[in-house]
Amino acid sequence: MRFITTLTALLSALTHLVLAAPLTEQRRARLAAKRAAATPRILGSHPLIPADGINASSNGNNSHVQYSSNWAGAVLIGSGYTTVTGTIVVPMPKAGSGAGGKASSASAWVGIDGDTCSTSILQTGIDFTYTNGQVSYDAWYEWFPDYAYNFDGISIKAGDTVTMTVTANSKTGGTAVIENQSTGKTATHTFSAQSAALCETNAEWIVEDFESGGSLVPFANFGTVTFTGASARSGGGTVGVNGATIIDIQQGSKVLTDCGTSGSSSVYCRYIG
Ligand SMILES: *[C@@H]1O[C@H](CO)[C@@H](O)[C@H](O)[C@H]1NC(C)=O
Ligand SMILES: *[C@@H]1O[C@H](CO)[C@@H](O)[C@H](O)[C@H]1NC(C)=O
Ligand SMILES: *[C@@H]1O[C@H](CO)[C@@H](O)[C@H](O)[C@H]1NC(C)=O
Repeated sequence: MRFITTLTALLSALTHLVLAAPLTEQRRARLAAKRAAATPRILGSHPLIPADGINASSNGNNSHVQYSSNWAGAVLIGSGYTTVTGTIVVPMPKAGSGAGGKASSASAWVGIDGDTCSTSILQTGIDFTYTNGQVSYDAWYEWFPDYAYNFDGISIKAGDTVTMTVTANSKTGGTAVIENQSTGKTATHTFSAQSAALCETNAEWIVEDFESGGSLVPFANFGTVTFTGASARSGGGTVGVNGATIIDIQQGSKVLTDCGTSGSSSVYCRYIG
């Protein structure tokens, strides 16, 4: 019994260690995988699957639906995007349908570029992971192709209302800000002199299934993520999400999300796996 108890304690300690590390590893691996896939479109780890026969949303404004293996959400394609913002209520993730007992994760973020512009992405968001009845969260910022880094000193829980904003002050510098709407407290990272210049041609609100070790992590059942107050600045004016391209995640023959816009300032994604 003592042996078992000790073994259990050891296993529990090991599990804790294993649990503590994976998100950072996964995020780094996700970045490494994006780099390795030297395709012209970062989000396209496979060619676009035409929307024939599947209407991801009945919203009349969501006429351009694309499918991706890792991105779901809405992308504006234009020019001169310098700020993208959106607010989410942090979801309580559950195991995804394909998790098979493994940890499942998803990430919600806002960003500039990464769709038709593959040079770089300025992004900030929150990862959520479900493992064996436990959930964990990380808030992060990234200027692809550099790694993503966690913000320090933010503790996130389900139900928190969080505003995410990225701003490009130039094509090689800017800020990533996560704001806690309950407290007004912000965490900010300032980027400068990045080697990869932005195109400023994409503004997006995304729920992502990221990669670890070259394959997608089991996608978490995130319920619904809604980006409210979704807007971008372009050419000195503010634009909403009307006319955005809607992207849903399809893996194999299965469509896992149903995303769309609602009104001019809201983007929603539902997990339907
Ligand atoms: C998809 O939407 C279009 C336009 O509303 C409609 O004509 C078509 O029948 C729909 N297809 C399916 C499979 O629901
Ligand atoms: C926001 O602040 C509240 C109140 O202090 C706290 O409970 C919550 O976890 C915070 N959320 C984030 C994302 O900082
Ligand atoms: C569609 O877009 C128009 C403006 O282009 C907007 O007024 C309307 O609310 C949108 N409809 C929906 C269902 O989002």
